[in-house]
Amino acid sequence: MNKEIKRSMNILLAGGAGYIGSHTAVELLNNGYDVVIADNYSNSDPEAIERIKKITGKDIISYEEDITDKTAVSEIFGNNKIDVVIHFAGLKAVGESVKIPVAYYRNNIDTTLTLLECMAEYGCHNIVFSSSATVYGEENDIPYVETMKKGTCSNPYGWTKSMMEQILSDASTADEELSVVLLRYFNPIGAHESGLIGEDPQGIPNNLMPYISQVAVGRRDHLTIFGNDYKTKDGTCRRDYIHIMDLAGGHVKAVEYAAEHKGTEIFNLGTGTPYSVLEIVNAFEKANGIKIKYEFGERRSGDLPEFWADSCKAEKILGWKTSRSLEDMCKDTWNWQRNNPNGYRGK
Ligand code: NAD
Ligand code: UD1
Repeated sequence: MNKEIKRSMNILLAGGAGYIGSHTAVELLNNGYDVVIADNYSNSDPEAIERIKKITGKDIISYEEDITDKTAVSEIFGNNKIDVVIHFAGLKAVGESVKIPVAYYRNNIDTTLTLLECMAEYGCHNIVFSSSATVYGEENDIPYVETMKKGTCSNPYGWTKSMMEQILSDASTADEELSVVLLRYFNPIGAHESGLIGEDPQGIPNNLMPYISQVAVGRRDHLTIFGNDYKTKDGTCRRDYIHIMDLAGGHVKAVEYAAEHKGTEIFNLGTGTPYSVLEIVNAFEKANGIKIKYEFGERRSGDLPEFWADSCKAEKILGWKTSRSLEDMCKDTWNWQRNNPNGYRGK
């Protein structure tokens, strides 16, 4: 990309103190971009901002604000010339979304609308959005390809993603200046190699890798594997796990793409290689020399037996490829958890 454009780009990371946002901030700063972070810390900790500064040796502007607050977001745009927005700010716990769907629709849709309105007001034409493989729903064959029709989601969280994709793509149809990049993440795990930032779920982890690492560090007694009677090779579900720093690198490419194109483009961010739950447990044990106590339990409602990405499009168009192995993912997860047994709160 044009070096002059790149040097002067200022990226607003909405929800940038969270797991994916903090790792992306590091990758953007290391690639010469400036970042502004806005987060209400509903699922993160301001300490993440200090750690980003420590890793990169760079200063960043950060705001404790709710992205649904139009006055506050307007002020951020007014005080900073924002070239690209990356929209991470969302509630993401699938089970919770079934219990409090209205809060999920309110937060996730409102943040998107507020950002779009402020972008239009302040002449910002580029947005990269954190979507999910969940939008492929239950009907599609695997591997998932971007050309497939979206499917039926099994929970309100998934529907918010599907709806936000629609809102963003409608907005870019109506405004020919607007560039929208929809990134469909598969299963991000791991942590920055420094061990200074990582995934820090509040309460009992919903996702597999943080649960495993909390068992390893002694915060949980054992892992329950949800189902061992799926029609997969070892009976447990298979997913496309991707190292968080590879995922973060995908955002740098997406920002560059957004700045140079118009319209809506969708990219899967996955490795294309699935692993089963048992393979993940075994890989974690082997990489770190730790035994993980587990037992088999009931299937979790809404889980699909297996899915993974066709990631050719991101490779071909963005020039993006993953480079880290499952062993790296397991080692880096443990490095973060071991050094931060209680996450940022134990700082
Ligand atoms: P996260 O919870 O760690 O980060 C989200 C951040 O947004 C948090 O820091 C939270 O405090 C903030 N936030 C939420 N609502 C806000 C609001 N109204 N105003 C300001 N800040 C707000 O989650 P993550 O894993 O980093 O995920 C980032 C995005 O990617 C989310 O939109 C999530 O749905 C999506 N996603 C995540 C995964 C995954 O496996 N982690 C997979 C697919 C998609
Ligand atoms: C889940 C969400 C998905 C979301 C993604 C990232 C569901 C149904 N799907 O994906 O919408 O985009 O997280 O936030 O929740 N597992 C166990 N024991 C555990 C935890 C998980 O066996 O304690 C298994 C699950 O059954 C699954 C695999 O591990 O087979 C991965 O689970 P998880 O990390 O929650 O990711 P997904 O289910 O793929």
